[in-house]
Amino acid sequence: MSAPVPNGRPAVVTGAARGIGLAVAARLAAQGAPLLLVDRDAPGLLESARLCRKAGAPVEMLVADLRDRASPSRIADAARRAYGGVAVLINNAGIEFRGDIQAHDDDTWDRVLDVNLSAAFRLTRALADDLADAPGGAIVNLASVAIVGFAGQAAYDASKGGLATLTRSLAVELGPRGVRANAVAPGFIDTQMLRDTPDLAGMAERFARTLPAGRLGTAAEVASAVAWLASPRASYVTGHTLFVDGGWMRR
Ligand SMILES: NC(=O)c1ccc[n+]([C@@H]2O[C@H](COP(=O)([O-])OP(=O)(O)OC[C@H]3O[C@@H](n4cnc5c(N)ncnc54)[C@H](O)[C@@H]3O)[C@@H](O)[C@H]2O)c1
Repeated sequence: MSAPVPNGRPAVVTGAARGIGLAVAARLAAQGAPLLLVDRDAPGLLESARLCRKAGAPVEMLVADLRDRASPSRIADAARRAYGGVAVLINNAGIEFRGDIQAHDDDTWDRVLDVNLSAAFRLTRALADDLADAPGGAIVNLASVAIVGFAGQAAYDASKGGLATLTRSLAVELGPRGVRANAVAPGFIDTQMLRDTPDLAGMAERFARTLPAGRLGTAAEVASAVAWLASPRASYVTGHTLFVDGGWMRR
């Protein structure tokens, strides 16, 4: 068993070097949460830590590739050393692949599933006891509207669908130990991930104009939903996937 969390609600945020992960970290820092920021991008992580420290919150960082099987225990050790444990886990790191199913070779399929789904599982398993020991333990996983299934991104869609289902399993299994688990499913959000895929970026801009919101979302708008789900204000919300998509998946 890990040591009880003394003060505050320490949070681990993966993929914190840019985009939605950085926006989540900044939001939690503004609320005073002690942070452990994780990413494989060292310069980006340094800059994120600098920005979050401006908010006055304690910030630790760990450069780690989440595909590395040693990463979860390194992250758990770092969080216990710095803060005595973890109360909030944000599984945000993710990668995209665009191509038809013939373009998905075995390595591509394995890589996308490994980063987007298996790494989130491994890190959750490593931190589950800490989350259960902390008051109001909460997990928020970054899924996607892709859980409904689109052409040209089979591995990504399957990984995010798996993550949404994993979220529900975690809610059921860890609920009796006081841990909530939810997912946020963003629509088209204006981040580097979108800009790195030029054909998708143009299409997304045009499509976004047809949404009820009439535009792309921002990382800060996703972060606001993530921060709410991670907070005690959402104490009766668990096993949920919240679309933050400008009204795309309205039902
Ligand atoms: N941007 C969107 O439109 C959008 C829409 C739906 C869902 N999402 C999801 O939200 C999350 C964040 O998206 P984003 O747009 O900010 O992406 P991004 O590409 O801008 O940032 C992802 C971060 O994850 C890190 N990362 C990737 N693989 C890693 C690994 N193996 N180990 C450690 N770090 C790793 C990257 O270095 C990067 O800093 C992802 O899970 C993504 O699938 C994004």
